[in-house]
Amino acid sequence: ISIVWVLLIASYFIGSIPTALIVGKLAYGIDIREHGSKNPGATNTLRVLGKKAAIFVLIVDILKGAIAASLPRYYHIDAESLYFGLMAVVGHCFPIFAGFRGGKAIATTAGTLLIANIQLLVIAFLTFFLVIFLTKYVFFGSISVGLSLLTYSLISSQLGFELIFLLFSLLLIYLHRSNIRNFILGIEPKINDKNLKND
Ligand code: G3P
Repeated sequence: ISIVWVLLIASYFIGSIPTALIVGKLAYGIDIREHGSKNPGATNTLRVLGKKAAIFVLIVDILKGAIAASLPRYYHIDAESLYFGLMAVVGHCFPIFAGFRGGKAIATTAGTLLIANIQLLVIAFLTFFLVIFLTKYVFFGSISVGLSLLTYSLISSQLGFELIFLLFSLLLIYLHRSNIRNFILGIEPKINDKNLKND
């Protein structure tokens, strides 16, 4: 088994660390997966546990992607760092340490792009905040991240990530299926809504 595979698997394990779950349980004694949107991510941590906890979760979840994406460089391996970061994203979304019930990819993707491709990070970041600013829904911003990366990879000929970002966009839509359902039902909270949803 080659070092590349070992590092890809290690990346998945790094991503699998369930930050929001650990912070909720250790610092607040609650299971984040039973409150708010029930998603163990920074957005729901903000909703349920407040700003301090959310910033911590956000930073650690970003670091998971950044550390995984740094592995090939650290081990002097000539391999595309994006793939390692995305393995951490898969771990974050389907964590082996938390019954494969994880988050919705955004923070760990940001950390991945920070190391793998700063240009893509800027595109994702601007899209995310512009869409949230315009719609007031976080999940719209999140789904748009995938579509913006896919669009960019299609129009810029030097990037060979079209298939990856197509799969990534489909993954984001799948991960946000409860948000889409709630939006259709008219019960998805906007970013500034204080009332918690219970789906
Ligand atoms: O990035 C997470 C966001 O897209 C949705 O989170 O908790 O509103 O389902 P949540």
